[in-house]
Formats: sequence, C-alpha cells, structure tokens
Amino acid sequence: MKGIVLAGGSGSRLYPLTRTIVKQLLPIYDKPMIYYPLSVLMLAGIREVLIISTPRDISRFEDLLGDGSQWGMRFEYAVQDEPKGIAQALTIGEDFLTGSSVALILGDNVLYGHGLTEVLTRARRRVEEDGRAVIFGYYVKDPSAYGVVVLDDDMRPQRIVEKPKEAISHWAVVGLYLYPSDAPEVASQIRPSARGELEISDVNQVYLERGLLDVELLGRGYAWLDTGTFESLLEAGKFIEVIERRQGLKIACPEEIAFLKGFIDGKQLRRLAEPLMKSRYGKYLLDVLEEAER
Ligand code: DAU
Repeated sequence: MKGIVLAGGSGSRLYPLTRTIVKQLLPIYDKPMIYYPLSVLMLAGIREVLIISTPRDISRFEDLLGDGSQWGMRFEYAVQDEPKGIAQALTIGEDFLTGSSVALILGDNVLYGHGLTEVLTRARRRVEEDGRAVIFGYYVKDPSAYGVVVLDDDMRPQRIVEKPKEAISHWAVVGLYLYPSDAPEVASQIRPSARGELEISDVNQVYLERGLLDVELLGRGYAWLDTGTFESLLEAGKFIEVIERRQGLKIACPEEIAFLKGFIDGKQLRRLAEPLMKSRYGKYLLDVLEEAER
C-alpha cells in the first residue's frame, strides 16, 4: 500500500494566515501540520508517499521533507492546479500508485488515540487481502461540516452524504481513506457535485453500492481534531501541548516513528538530531535514542 497526502486548497477560511503559505505547513504546537497525517501513514507501515499541493507551495514541502530517505521513506510530489476536489488526488496519483492500493489522508487531519496503529494495520490488511475500501467514522455533535455515513442497526454503512443539511447521522467521515487498486479508475468516473467539486464522498458511495465499503468506528478514546478555523487550529495546538508536556512524549514525531518502526537505525536518528540541538525537538530525538539503548 502506498500513501497520498493531499495538502493543497485555497486556505481562504484562515486568511490572512494562509495568504503566503499553505495551511498544512502552519504549526500545530511544535511541528508543521503535515507531520501529523504523515505520521499516521508511517504508523500504518506505509513508506512510499505522494504529497500533493498547490503550484505555489509544492516546493516548500520538498524543502521540508526532501526525498524522504532521511526517515527511511520515499516521497514524491505532484501539483494540483486548482482545488477541484479531494477525489482528484486519486487521479493525480495514478502514475505514482502504479496499481497499488492506497491510503489517502488529508494534510490537515490530526488523529490521536491508543490502538491507532492496530486499527490501521487491520484496515490495511482488509484492503490488501480482501480488496475492500475502509473509511473511518467519528461521532461528532455537529456533523454538518463533514461527509457523514448513515449506519444501520448492525453498524453497516447505508449511505454517505457530503455536508448534510439535516442531522441524518452523527458519524462524520474522517479524512483518511483506504482503497484498493482501482481507486483512480473509480475517481475518474465521478462527476463534479453541485458545489463543483469531485467529492470523496461520491467515491465512497461507489464502493458502498458495490458492497465493498467497510466503516471502522473510532470510539470516544480517540481524538480527531479539526484545524479549519482559528479557534480549532489553536485548540489542536493546545491539545498536543497538554499531552506532550504531561507525558514528555511527542505526538506525530516522524523521526521517532521511523526509528521505532525500524525504517532508520540509531546512527541515522543521531544524525537527524544533531543539527536540531538548539531546539527541544533535537534533544527529544536524542532522548528517544538513549532510552532505546538503555
Ligand atoms: O476532514 C474530513 C472532511 O474532509 C470529510 O468529512 C469530508 O467528507 C470531506 O469532503 C472534507 O471536507 P472539508 O470541508 O474539510 O473539505 P475541504 O474542502 O476543507 O478540504 C479538506 C482539505 O483538503 C483542506 O485542507 C484543503 C485540501 N484540499 C481540498 C480540496 C477540495 C485540497 O488540497 N484540494 C482540494 O481540491
């Protein structure tokens, strides 16, 4: 399975913060926003990732993340000329995917919770071995800003609706989608919605109608944080700060994940830490190494 991070869009809801920089490079507490979704892919054991952003911003992601080899990853980059919809990430990514299954994640989605790695691994297996598509549902008070999934009594998906006007379900669909290898083809067949976008909800609806869609519900022990408004962006940062300071452990530190997953060795972790020693981030990486060597 390969990964795609969609990190473009106009960012207009966060003007003027996003006037000269794309939203997914803004900080959430101590690291750039894109580190959070990238870490989710890494936790799922995905090592080849395509990063899609705007013509203006793609080079900034390349500057930040390089070819990925420093983390034992492989990164490629592609441009989305205009934000025509999330589903377009799958067609833009077709050449990169070369027939592989895919985990598509939105570059502004922050996910955190005990057991996330197991949930991801299980979902990944279902896609790779059984050819199913897996999406994730999260209970929210106000689902009107999201894609939602309507579930039957057995918690099987009945319908996917993008930004419903009426509260037909409290289960919002998280911005992480796992698809089998035909996803680019499915995405190429959907048509723009009334708001003119290629909706990822329509892709999910196709898999649902084929009887191939599974919904993993993330219970209340998970945090799925929003970063779409000034308040939610700040709150996400505060949330990360509170947990990190309490535990002394970092959330979504790609260097640490790469090391713990065996993508890189201790020597490489030290190499990554040394230029960062003026920041607490660098010291943290050395602590991770020392802890492992103890
Ligand atoms: O966050 C989960 C939600 O994301 C899902 O529940 C919805 O089904 C899904 O449509 C999406 O809803 P949003 O209203 O959050 O979509 P938005 O247009 O804000 O785009 C989400 C992110 O993707 C945002 O950071 C910008 C980026 N994006 C979006 C579009 C439409 C792109 O990079 N390119 C695009 O063409």
